[in-house]
Amino acid sequence: MITYVPEPFTDFTIEANSEALAAAISEVQQQLGGEYPLIIGGSRVMTEEMQSSINPSSTSEVVGRVSKANAKQAEQAITSAYKTFQSWSKVPVAHRARLLFKASAILRRRKHEFNAWLMIEAGKTRGEADADTAEAIDFLEYYARQMLEMSETVAKKLVVRRGEDNDLQYIPLGVGVIIPPWNFPLAIMAGMTTAAVVAGNTVVLKPASTTPVIAYKFVEVLEQAGMPAGVVQFLPGSGAEIGDLLVTHPLTRFISFTGSREVGLRIFELSAKTSPGQIWLKRFVGELGGKDAIVVDSEADLEAAAQAIVASAFSFSGQKCSACSRAIVHEDVYDAVLKRCTELTEALTVGNTVNFSNYTGPVIDLNAYRKIFEYIEIGSKEGRLVAGGRKVDGDGYFIQPTIIADLKPDAVLMQEEVFGPVLGFCKASSYEEALAIANNTEYGLTGAVFSTNRAKLERAREQFHVGNLYFNRKCTGAIVGVHPFGGFNMSGTDSKAGGPDYLLQFTQLKLISEQL
Ligand code: SER
Repeated sequence: MITYVPEPFTDFTIEANSEALAAAISEVQQQLGGEYPLIIGGSRVMTEEMQSSINPSSTSEVVGRVSKANAKQAEQAITSAYKTFQSWSKVPVAHRARLLFKASAILRRRKHEFNAWLMIEAGKTRGEADADTAEAIDFLEYYARQMLEMSETVAKKLVVRRGEDNDLQYIPLGVGVIIPPWNFPLAIMAGMTTAAVVAGNTVVLKPASTTPVIAYKFVEVLEQAGMPAGVVQFLPGSGAEIGDLLVTHPLTRFISFTGSREVGLRIFELSAKTSPGQIWLKRFVGELGGKDAIVVDSEADLEAAAQAIVASAFSFSGQKCSACSRAIVHEDVYDAVLKRCTELTEALTVGNTVNFSNYTGPVIDLNAYRKIFEYIEIGSKEGRLVAGGRKVDGDGYFIQPTIIADLKPDAVLMQEEVFGPVLGFCKASSYEEALAIANNTEYGLTGAVFSTNRAKLERAREQFHVGNLYFNRKCTGAIVGVHPFGGFNMSGTDSKAGGPDYLLQFTQLKLISEQL
């Protein structure tokens, strides 16, 4: 088997690649407004009630109308997954892994098409869309290999005892509920789903309500790759109507969630309660928010720091849990870094991303749009608005990349996750204080430090309490297998997606010992 190598990004400076993407965008545009069913046990079910997925760059455009499951259909989905688990859990690991390899090959062939869907349904630029598709391919390739390796090597780790034949096996858990986010609507959704499935579980996938069409297209890829009916149920629906039911169902064995802290904590709490008839302790795997900081030391490459801060804060309009929302800068270089970041930020263009020259696109929906402006208002009172702060003309949810300077460490803008293009600046009187401010948050997902001083970097290595700590580079853009991703404290269960231990969360170990 070929060793895992991350999928290279498409080089859009090559004319042929840009043309192929433009052609894919035209084709996807022909398909807009299509209707999509639920998929339960391989059967397509069109519901009367539908939900519309809207193009956030052009809000009058319906990307697709997607069926919406009710409680009865949620019940059927769980039952179907439970039934299929009896057979799927016995399918050999090599067969399950092969299916992921096949699905990844299909995704690779249809890369431009998926990029186009990501641009239109999620408002990603072509570069961000391409990174999302590449990451989806990576998750499939990585988890398939990981499962093969785990199952082949685990028994060899046992200590040998004369007179006994001992065996150790990873066995799956059961039915999982997969609740992915909208911000990596292909990569994270595909990663969460296929990790559970390659480990032998069956799932109910409840896609994010703003990006269900991409999820549907991915389930089609799985089917095309040969995934048996009933392994993955596609079940869009409202949290209120089916979310709680899925989470609290006695046949649900685990919940894999990526999203907001508020929803995550609710699911965590619900999943801890045992329902009548439930015979296990549910597992909760949760990736929640971040309030990620980049620290700039007085001894640092300031140009590199400014470039990294702006890229981490404003790519995909700051809608990454890894995004930099706090720049914590030593007082000796504070003015210089703020000035350079402001210049870079004011040069950024915002608009519909099918126009390839725009640096970033819209925020995801009206709720996000309103909430982000509320935060900008709060921030403008807490600190000094130095860039952006206003809407951008157009028929989409466009917001100017915004910088608010001179914030105190405890300011709302330094504590609460905005999930939009809003960056706070805070001055530190020493490097030690900068690290203390960086740690002054309930979250602990990503962070970065810019310094040319080796001893200071070593101090940060030990003191900066985040799951993904980066030195002299941006704090976004983790690569599967290279930078296992996940955070501490309120950022979640530190599940480390794309890491060597991720699949352990979807398996349990069985020891079989025979007296010879
Ligand atoms: N994995 C992404 C990143 O590192 C965030 O989810 O940017």
